[in-house]
Amino acid sequence: MAMTKGRQREMLESVYSCIAVFFIFVACVELCDAATVVDVYRLIQYDISGVPFGSRLARLNHHVAYSPFIPGADLSRAVVIIPIREVNITFLRECITQKKALGGLLLLLPQKFNSESKDDSKEGGQMYKKEGMQNILTELEKLLINAAIPYPVYFAFEDEKIDAILAEVKKKDAIGQSPTATTGGYKAVTANPEPRKLAPATITNIQGWLPGLRTDGDANQLPTIAIVASYDTFGAAPALSVGSDSNGSGVVALLEIARLFSRLYSNPKTRGRYNILFGLTSGGPYNYNGTMKWLRSLDQRVRESIDYAICLNSIGSWNNELWVHVSKPPENAYIKQVFESFSSVAEELGVQVGLKHKKINISNPRVAWEHEQFSRVRVTALTLSELSAAPGLLESTGSLFDSRQFVNDTAVRRSVKLVAESLGRHIYAHPGKNIEIFADGSSLAINPFYIKSWLNFLSQTPRVAPFLSKNEQFISALKKELADHTVEVNVQQDVLDGIFTFYDSTTARLTIYQVVSVAFDLLLLLAVGSYLIMLFSGLVITTRGVDDLIGIFRRPPSRKQKIA
Ligand SMILES: *[C@@H]1O[C@H](CO)[C@@H](O)[C@H](O)[C@H]1NC(C)=O
Ligand SMILES: *[C@@H]1O[C@H](CO)[C@@H](O)[C@H](O)[C@H]1NC(C)=O
Ligand SMILES: *[C@@H]1O[C@H](CO)[C@@H](O)[C@H](O)[C@H]1NC(C)=O
Repeated sequence: MAMTKGRQREMLESVYSCIAVFFIFVACVELCDAATVVDVYRLIQYDISGVPFGSRLARLNHHVAYSPFIPGADLSRAVVIIPIREVNITFLRECITQKKALGGLLLLLPQKFNSESKDDSKEGGQMYKKEGMQNILTELEKLLINAAIPYPVYFAFEDEKIDAILAEVKKKDAIGQSPTATTGGYKAVTANPEPRKLAPATITNIQGWLPGLRTDGDANQLPTIAIVASYDTFGAAPALSVGSDSNGSGVVALLEIARLFSRLYSNPKTRGRYNILFGLTSGGPYNYNGTMKWLRSLDQRVRESIDYAICLNSIGSWNNELWVHVSKPPENAYIKQVFESFSSVAEELGVQVGLKHKKINISNPRVAWEHEQFSRVRVTALTLSELSAAPGLLESTGSLFDSRQFVNDTAVRRSVKLVAESLGRHIYAHPGKNIEIFADGSSLAINPFYIKSWLNFLSQTPRVAPFLSKNEQFISALKKELADHTVEVNVQQDVLDGIFTFYDSTTARLTIYQVVSVAFDLLLLLAVGSYLIMLFSGLVITTRGVDDLIGIFRRPPSRKQKIA
């Protein structure tokens, strides 16, 4: 009696372990099916005054297709994967403007964008290709940002696994086999939730102050010169929008200029008779909304003491021309003086500086340059930029191709030199005189390592304002850096109100599974099933003998027998 019970328990145990083995086996089959898992970055989703733009959905669970132009194919349940290097903009534009129904779109960026290239001296041929790629990306980005796309659109970096999958899918497409459940192929799946509206973006402005030297007799406040750069970015993929040149370069230049002047100002003998105000502003892509709010928040006496402000825009690409953009007439005394000073230093550096004058229109809500916000509150200001014309709304603000590889350390150093030197000559009243304040090799030399490390840091830091938290580490780092060189460092926060609404879900993990056909699935199931039965039988025979095996398949002992 007791023996029967014990045997029954053992039998049950072996049945359980077999079931466990089966599930582990099944789980393994599932796992082995995942061909690859990649990080994907969703196209931005936003509304302007309620009008939708960008990628309107986030979740993918579709078969993989290669080309959106398979004639007659229904791709409304397929994720189309296209490498950027193969993009035909005309086709893609048609596909988007004609609202072709897709399940999703995954654009593959070349791996090189991801890795950091330290090599500045590219060969001619490669340079040309790079520029071709930039043009395609710029156009593509413009297209995607300005359309409302009713399916998920993602970017990912190309790798060997994806390329291999793509090659296989391409082959199937070529023989006209459409991607459906019965023919196998690949399936792309993300597990992220559908996007939700974000709370209005917080705008964080950071300011620092270098007080000038006041002599005892000074009753009046000293004049102030402001150096300003906008640090946030906007791009097709917020999680990739690092904007190395677009204001990344401006931010780095501002920090280096603050460092240089803090050395001069730390000694009363070399402290200038001007205050210098540093402003790192946010909201650049949205009509410099943050700059306006920062200016409004400034102490009125400080604001009124500003002689002029120099706004640093994109100044990091190797271009032998820089532009000074102004909205006050060029005859304005400060504008004239700053421009002349820039021109003379530029000549020494072998750079050309041009002047562009564009009046502001107060009733137009569009603010194309940062200095225009200063003009609106009647502070003389100018923007230094390598761009010769005002960018459109949401343009030139840190797009996909604006990566570290296209920013030139030497160019940033040169821009720093241009601004610091002419500012120095103004403050120490040596205009036009050929006295080098920040000479190479001197204790006041520009520090190339400082510039390089900050450029590297910014190039790895996506900073699209609506996706930055209030106490973002990156903002703390900027604040701390400014505090190392200046005093009265102040963080001002406001809300980006008005016309923009943004949505979350900017990144996801994409799993690509190999899908086996239904027939194959059944076959596999049969094989696994019979294997398990054989395994089980074998186990019982070797441990318990044939009798027990037969016993297992007999009906369990009845109650009567037990009582007996
Ligand atoms: C960078 O500067 C340019 C020119 O002032 C501006 O249009 C753009 O909005 C800025 N970018 C960001 C991300 O603020
Ligand atoms: C100024 O902007 C407003 C609003 O966009 C526009 O209606 C007006 O024509 C503009 N004026 C000039 C002189 O361009
Ligand atoms: C910027 O700020 C002003 C005033 O606070 C607001 O009216 C405007 O809509 C804001 N947004 C943009 C994108 O200009």
